[in-house]
Amino acid sequence: MSIKNICCIGAGYVGGPTMAIIAQQCPHIKVTVVDLNEKRIADWNDDNLDNLPVFEPGLDAIVKEARGRNLFFSTEVDKAIDEAEMIFISVNTPTKTYGKGKGMAADLKYIELCARQIARVSKQNKIVVEKSTLPVRTASAIKSILDHTGNDVKFEILSNPEFLAEGTAVTDLLKPDRVLIGGDTTPEGDMAAKALVDIYANWVPKERILTTNVWSSELSKLTANAFLAQRVSSINAMSEICEETGADVNEVSKAIGMDSRIGSKFLKASVGFGGSCFQKDIFNLVYIAKSYGLNEVADYWEQVILMNEYQKERFTNKLITTLYNTVSDKKITFFGWAFKKDTNDTRESAAIKVADNLLNEQAKISVYDPKVKVNQIYADLDYLKTRTSAENKALLTVESDPYVACENSHSIAILTEWDEFKTYDWQKIYDHMLKPAVVFDGRSLLERKKLEEIGFIYYSIGSGITGN
Ligand code: UDX
Ligand code: UDX
Repeated sequence: MSIKNICCIGAGYVGGPTMAIIAQQCPHIKVTVVDLNEKRIADWNDDNLDNLPVFEPGLDAIVKEARGRNLFFSTEVDKAIDEAEMIFISVNTPTKTYGKGKGMAADLKYIELCARQIARVSKQNKIVVEKSTLPVRTASAIKSILDHTGNDVKFEILSNPEFLAEGTAVTDLLKPDRVLIGGDTTPEGDMAAKALVDIYANWVPKERILTTNVWSSELSKLTANAFLAQRVSSINAMSEICEETGADVNEVSKAIGMDSRIGSKFLKASVGFGGSCFQKDIFNLVYIAKSYGLNEVADYWEQVILMNEYQKERFTNKLITTLYNTVSDKKITFFGWAFKKDTNDTRESAAIKVADNLLNEQAKISVYDPKVKVNQIYADLDYLKTRTSAENKALLTVESDPYVACENSHSIAILTEWDEFKTYDWQKIYDHMLKPAVVFDGRSLLERKKLEEIGFIYYSIGSGITGN
């Protein structure tokens, strides 16, 4: 079966870029991305490509090439479902904030709504592809909804988890390490999987396209993210030992990363991992383990999250103790708010937690981030409900010029590893700050020697503070 028409429900950080690449690489396939959020769709259709709702290096050029040719963004969900032979579900699956599994299980209500909508609209057989990260065995729940509420048409469910990382989405999609496709081990399941394999084979070498059963595929996504997050928490645990012993975590990372069994990636100590996936997926894994009574397994993985929370607390506490145990009314500048560089995404960003802690101590914060919009920063803080919106606005300001953000500041905290921070005139920044001027580098981004020569007191995660 050769697919000519694809629909994707969910025009977010995953759905948008993934479909843009499929459309660019497969001009013979019509790709329609739909979303309930009208503003989001309008932004994807904006003539000014700077207004695309997702910032990813290189994405604008791809959208420009394919949009209007075979890539369409629309709010007409029913129509797109009806026309498509293959439907990707790429809606969000946040951690539940209510009821059973609160704070841990994935909230599948949007997935279920999508399944019911697909069932209601479909008049011909369809292949439904899970792109959203889901708990293991969700495919069977989707299948059950489709089969029981549908119009007697046949559905095949595939799991095709996304491994793209934000900030590098375009390269990750164009040159993936692997594409994973899980399907039913029946002749119909095999045929559906083959149809999806054929789409990716337009640009991905066949040996990199892996087919498995549905549950292996679903579980592999959670496992990949848990392993990656575990590496960050492991090196972050070592960062504290380094600070106590005089070792340098960057040197340790380099030394262990050269062991080919360990490998060099995901060994960068930081103020803590963020992003929409790591915490959510590990909670998911923990919840699944607990639901099977596997308490030791659950505790093992939960520790990765606890370590991450601890790292954010530790960073804040170090900042407060260094500023003579009080930050009340002191101006602290944040360089970076996004959860990593080259994205405007702030979900679970360490900056939010560090800001919350410091605002509780009545610090005054001034934020500069090259890509995150002002409203997003306030929305992130308001969401915590620690303070009123007015209080957040009174204590925290957002600047569009990094030098202005540093004026009369006591300290700068680097929360995101944006490359541009390295190129600033640090002498000029120093000259306009209060003294002693302290830089808290949560990303080991800057050169210690250079900053100390200027006169800064410099703290970096895992290599300690000037003078110690
Ligand atoms: C989402 C999931 O969170 C993640 O688990 C999965 O791996 C990929 O998809 P992301 O694309 O980053 O990640 O989410 P988000 O940017 O929030 O986009 C989801 C979109 O779905 C939103 O634009 C939302 O408006 C839309 N949506 C949600 C629908 O169109 N219909 C719904 O019923 C629910
Ligand atoms: C992750 C997975 O990498 C991707 O495969 C999956 O599909 C979605 O989740 P993402 O969250 O976009 O991608 O970014 P990632 O590059 O994994 O970074 C996650 C967090 O870990 C960031 O806050 C990053 O700064 C932090 N990190 C990463 C470190 O602190 N140290 C490292 O060495 C690597």
